[in-house]
Amino acid sequence: MLNQNFQPNQFSDLVFEEECIKQRLFAYASGKRDGHIILYGDYGTGKSTAAKIIAETRCDDETAGFVDVIHARDASIEMERYLLRISNGFNIQQMMGINTPYAVIDEADQLSEINQHHLRAFMDNAIGCVILTTNHIHALDKGIKDRADEVEIKSLSPNAVCERASDILKAQGIVVEQSYLLRLLSTTSGSWRDVARALDDFIYSKV
Ligand SMILES: Nc1ncnc2c1ncn2[C@@H]1O[C@H](COP(=O)(O)OP(=O)(O)O)[C@@H](O)[C@H]1O
Ligand SMILES: [Mg+2]
Repeated sequence: MLNQNFQPNQFSDLVFEEECIKQRLFAYASGKRDGHIILYGDYGTGKSTAAKIIAETRCDDETAGFVDVIHARDASIEMERYLLRISNGFNIQQMMGINTPYAVIDEADQLSEINQHHLRAFMDNAIGCVILTTNHIHALDKGIKDRADEVEIKSLSPNAVCERASDILKAQGIVVEQSYLLRLLSTTSGSWRDVARALDDFIYSKV
């Protein structure tokens, strides 16, 4: 996909349907706020991308590489080893001057019940915090939810996406009127993957 070139790499590249959510998450990213976070909501709304960027924004260039991003599917095979790996990452980040280190566990609902219990204990005892992402918040243990700030990431409307979509097209040398772009985006489902496909179709129709 052409738009693979436009993966967000800093907090300001992220787009949220609700401005209050962007502010709330920026408080975490900028280190003003600490604590475990659950990003939940529909597919393709940028949860995994946001989780990684929030954790990395808390670090400097040197420490950002130590932010662990784990997929629950992999962790579930050897949960204890993965939790130990996260712990080690926390220790390294702390030694490098990060007060509250972060790690990401993607699609945390894919952890079995017993592994969710392990994670719950880890969340109580670890020196750092986790950002969990999930499309299925109801499949998460109540205790985990209770320990985290649950943040719903809503589907993206054409209005929310428009400015970044326009920047992406501009970078390809394509300038479109806002009203035209909004009409193009009105066919999308609220997922970035769908937006990327619509922009790709449009770019290919031009070349
Ligand atoms: N702000 C953004 N601008 C452009 N592309 C984005 C943005 N946020 C996410 N994406 C892209 O959309 C796709 C889906 O994002 P992802 O974070 O995996 O969503 P989710 O975890 O909610 O399913 C990825 O390819 C990602 O790079
Ligand atoms: Mg995801």
